[in-house]
This record gives sequence, structure tokens and C-alpha cells, in this order.
Amino acid sequence: MILKPQKREQIMPLPVVLLSTINKQGIANIAPWSNITPILRPLDEIIFASWIKRDTLANVREMQEFVVNIPPASMIEELMICSRNYPPEVDEFIEAGLKPRPSKQVQTPGIEGCLAWAECTLSEEIARKSYSLIIGKVVHLEANDDFFNEAGEMDFERAHPLSIMLGAQEMQFTRPIVSGRKAAYAEMFIKIE
Ligand SMILES: Cc1cc2nc3c(=O)[nH]c(=O)nc-3n(C[C@H](O)[C@H](O)[C@H](O)COP(=O)(O)O)c2cc1C
Repeated sequence: MILKPQKREQIMPLPVVLLSTINKQGIANIAPWSNITPILRPLDEIIFASWIKRDTLANVREMQEFVVNIPPASMIEELMICSRNYPPEVDEFIEAGLKPRPSKQVQTPGIEGCLAWAECTLSEEIARKSYSLIIGKVVHLEANDDFFNEAGEMDFERAHPLSIMLGAQEMQFTRPIVSGRKAAYAEMFIKIE
């Protein structure tokens, strides 16, 4: 099957996170986000893409910070409430019934009950006509001890982090499962003569 090039998001699973932000008045905003990725191991930066008309983007520009929250699958209904287009003066923690979690290094609260929290400060915005790429520096990273071991590894069969596949008419929430194959990082560096 040949797909149109702009359907490239239908061929790969995307992560699902919740971005929390605040504005100058302290009103909190939450939005689900999938166009987000760390920038190359072992750097400490994260990049996400935002359409221009997003309260999230306005808040990041205003406060120079944001929190990346990793929601469990049990938070899908709240997540979908946050995906609605509320005016900026509406606190989306209250709308979705989610509890703010005080952050350590930024003013923006995280979301209680998430699997992990990456507190970020804005390092760069790459502005395009209709969207922006936001590069954030992770200034504090914390994992929910209920779902991580001492080495900082997620027990994701228990934690149930989310991914998503985009379809022609709708989105399908998915969940990663263990394939059974592990790979040592050193395997990538085996030199073949
Ligand atoms: C699973 C999911 C992923 C999303 N990913 C993005 C994204 O990567 N970029 C974006 O601009 N909007 C994305 N959206 C849409 C925003 O979450 C939505 O428009 C939200 O209302 C924006 O809120 P805000 O205006 O308060 O920032 C996504 C929505 C869902 C449900």
C-alpha cells in the first residue's frame, strides 16, 4: 500500500506525555503531546513540536519552563479532557480532576500519579510559520518509585506507559510490551572489519 507522505505518523507509534505549564498569573495548563523526543543519548535535552495556537507554547514562551509528565494508561480519560481547547484562563488540573505535584526546580507543577516527571527550562525555540520546535533542558528528573527499580529502570509491564498510533479517522492508544530480546549498549559498537 502506498501512503501519502504526510501520513508518516500512521506508520510509527508515538509516545504520549502530558505537558504541564503555567502562565504569569499562575493558571495551570495541561496538554497531551506526542511529537516529543529526547535529543540523543546521553544529552539532557528534549525537543517537542507545537502548533502556534497552543496555550502550552504561549506559557513556555512566557515562563521559559515546562514539565514533561509520563502518564499511566489509567489516565487516558483525564488526558483526553486536557486535549480539549479550553481558554487560557481555565485551570486544566481542576477541569480534569488531576492533582498538582510541586516541582523541585521549576515553578510549574507536575501531575500527581504520573510515572515520571522531567522538569525543563527553555533553551531554544526554532520558530516556523505555523509551528515551533521547543528545545528544553532537563533540570530535574524524577521517577515514581512504585514503578522503577533502584537503577532507574521502569517496570513498564506494571507501569503501563502509553503510546499512540494515528489512523485515518481516529487515534488508537497503544502500550509497549516486552519483546524478550535485550541488547547491551556495547552491541552497537562492535566493529566489523
Ligand atoms: C495523544 C495526543 C497527542 C497530541 N500531540 C500534540 C503535539 O505533538 N503537538 C501539538 O501541537 N498538539 C498535540 N496534541 C493536541 C493538543 O494536546 C491539544 O490541541 C490541546 O488542546 C492543546 O492544549 P493547549 O492549547 O492548552 O496547549 C495532541 C493531542 C493528543 C490527544
